[in-house]
Amino acid sequence: MKITASITYYYFFCFLLVILLISAKAIAEEGNGNAEQPAEVKKSDFPDGFLFGVSTSSYQIEGAILDDDKSLSNWDVFVRKRGSVNNGDTADIAADHYHRYLEDIEIIHSLGVDAYRFSISWARILPRGKLGDVNPAGIMFYNKIIDNLLIRGIKPFVTIHHYDFPQELLDRYGGWLSPFMQDDYVHFAETCFKYFGDRVRYWITMNEANLLSELAYEKGIYPPGRCSPPFGNCSAGNSDIEPLIAMHNMLLAHSKAVKLYREQFQHKQGGMMGVAVSAMMYEPLSDDELDKEAANRALAFSLAWGLDPLVYGDYPPEMRRYHGKELPTFTSEEKQLLSNSTDFIGLNHYATVYAKDCIYSNCMCSNTTCLPGENRAIKGFVSTITERDGVPIGEPTGMFQTFIVPRGIKEIVDYAKKRYPDKPVFIVENGYCPPWEHGEVDDLQHDTKRVEYHKAYIASLAQAIRDGADVRGYFIWTLMDAFEWSSGYDLKFGLYSLDRVTLNRIPRLSAKWYRDFLRKTSLKDLESRSAIPAINQDGLVPNVKDGSAEMA
Ligand code: NOJ
Repeated sequence: MKITASITYYYFFCFLLVILLISAKAIAEEGNGNAEQPAEVKKSDFPDGFLFGVSTSSYQIEGAILDDDKSLSNWDVFVRKRGSVNNGDTADIAADHYHRYLEDIEIIHSLGVDAYRFSISWARILPRGKLGDVNPAGIMFYNKIIDNLLIRGIKPFVTIHHYDFPQELLDRYGGWLSPFMQDDYVHFAETCFKYFGDRVRYWITMNEANLLSELAYEKGIYPPGRCSPPFGNCSAGNSDIEPLIAMHNMLLAHSKAVKLYREQFQHKQGGMMGVAVSAMMYEPLSDDELDKEAANRALAFSLAWGLDPLVYGDYPPEMRRYHGKELPTFTSEEKQLLSNSTDFIGLNHYATVYAKDCIYSNCMCSNTTCLPGENRAIKGFVSTITERDGVPIGEPTGMFQTFIVPRGIKEIVDYAKKRYPDKPVFIVENGYCPPWEHGEVDDLQHDTKRVEYHKAYIASLAQAIRDGADVRGYFIWTLMDAFEWSSGYDLKFGLYSLDRVTLNRIPRLSAKWYRDFLRKTSLKDLESRSAIPAINQDGLVPNVKDGSAEMA
């Protein structure tokens, strides 16, 4: 009896000890803020319905620049100007996706993604813009892409305008510097809604209007290549003013297209309208209040420049404060049109940099640590710097001022959550390209750095979601190595490499990793994937050639 009692006491004592140890560990972890990331991020760390995908854009992969009545685009012409693209590369062939789209959709399918983001070539479906007819071959091409995605259970996530448009619109009235471009864009968007909208649930009106304005009209390194000193040496342009005008036209074009969609298409087609902005994160260079203000100003002059108008109907107050009359104004009618004109926010996130004040400090460029013009209003009087006390902000990548800083994706999402609390966010681009001098083929194929990059960024994003951000998707840039604008083929972002002679697509380690990461599919995902319409011998879902079919 005595022995039994001692054994009972012994077990009771052990039990108490275990409980005490567990509670102590929990308390200790809570005290630390339990900042630990899960060792290995998993798909199941994301909410149901979260979309994982890959992104591309028409000009960067299609090639076939004059096939089937496509007209020349602004980029087709620009790349032919000497010195505009590294090595004189062109996208005449690019990845030849126009002829190999079926193979590419197979690859996309094999990855197990939920969605595929691609863009429509304006010059392919409307070779003369509003002035000419719709090109049936162009419509057929994108119908085939959409149908072949749907049949495999992959959601099309369509960017209407991703940098390229018919050259004729530039020749006639100067592209985005002219308000005429707004109507031309609305006609383009309407054509997309009419022919593809029955099967597309996610639309992005424009890609990175904020970055495009800078690269095309301030630095002059994208078409039409306009700029003025000290930003660059172009034959014409005004870097202090033209980016603001181009942006103004793009914002209004967006809002008009969204109005049209909401009034004439949304009730039948049920899609969401969004926009993709370049989303660089800025951290203050020092604890100095001036640098903290500089970081806030930089965010306002970049991200909020593209989003405040579409959410609140006007430019960020920070921009109004520092710009003079060169910042265009919206009429009250336009403000109404712009206000709440996006259903979701698409973020293209690649870089995090430090911000240094240039209002009270001297930011005149005297060496390579600053960029020309940072002490001017168009740059928000902010200098962007990539190291602090000689320590780089992260490991380098192949892109200018772009380092690996996984916390940046959470920081930019948190910023968007705070500034636009009611808007869901999709990360519609995030990707890694190695410094190009590390271009040994084997290293490039066995791309452990890219794998680590995505794991770390996805883990940081998962943390943002746990902290309450409404993020609904993550798209890797990009499916396969592509024409990287003025860098030509030097920068390689692909999960697949591209043999430039045979154009064979070769999976990198990162493609295999993404496939494994996505393989852990839930039952729910499988159910939604089975609701796919049947396809006929022409590779089309019956009755969709004229855009009239209902999606299953
Ligand atoms: C963003 C752009 O949308 C895309 O076209 C480009 O290739 C990537 N950034 C990488 O630079």
